[in-house]
Amino acid sequence: MTIEAAEAQWSAESEADTARLAGWLAQRAEPGTVIALDGDLGAGKTRFSQAFAAALGVAGVVSSPTFTIIKEYESGRLPLYHMDVYRLSQEEADELGLDEYWYGRGVSLVEWASLVPDLLPERKLSIRIAREDGERRRFTLQGEGLPYADWCREWTVAAEGGGRG
Ligand SMILES: Nc1ncnc2c1ncn2[C@@H]1O[C@H](COP(=O)(O)OP(=O)(O)O)[C@@H](O)[C@H]1O
Ligand SMILES: [Mg+2]
Repeated sequence: MTIEAAEAQWSAESEADTARLAGWLAQRAEPGTVIALDGDLGAGKTRFSQAFAAALGVAGVVSSPTFTIIKEYESGRLPLYHMDVYRLSQEEADELGLDEYWYGRGVSLVEWASLVPDLLPERKLSIRIAREDGERRRFTLQGEGLPYADWCREWTVAAEGGGRG
């Protein structure tokens, strides 16, 4: 069975634009939301995650989870599971029990998600960030399943309302 899918684009001119998308998505997040982030080192995966966390109401510093694989934050509207799977082995993944995160009470943000495609749920929002000049970043969103496909359609409308797409 194929699931519903949709895409969206966002040309961020600045970190504030990155935060605008992150904040918009954080408002829609619900228990079990999974957002897969990809893009080269320095693209802005962690910056995006920090803005998302702030919009969720997470208190304090959200730093890169590179060496811990998962950092959990409980102080926001929903628990936030911030992951960096760059170094994640299959054994570690089995130990962690990733399904507990994907289908848990909180929202999962996964940096370098495309390195572990088989460990991710089918329904998710995938975001690829491409670095351009200066603070410019091109975001490509791919929503697989609901509500993610709808979010992509709604974001396209919201972004155009803001003057850019
Ligand atoms: N529009 C933008 N969005 C996100 N980060 C940006 C943007 N413009 C410049 N930056 C800078 O790019 C860097 C992104 O770093 P980081 O988020 O750690 O990347 P990653 O986690 O993808 O390796 C930061 O230094 C940030 O200040
Ligand atoms: Mg990072």
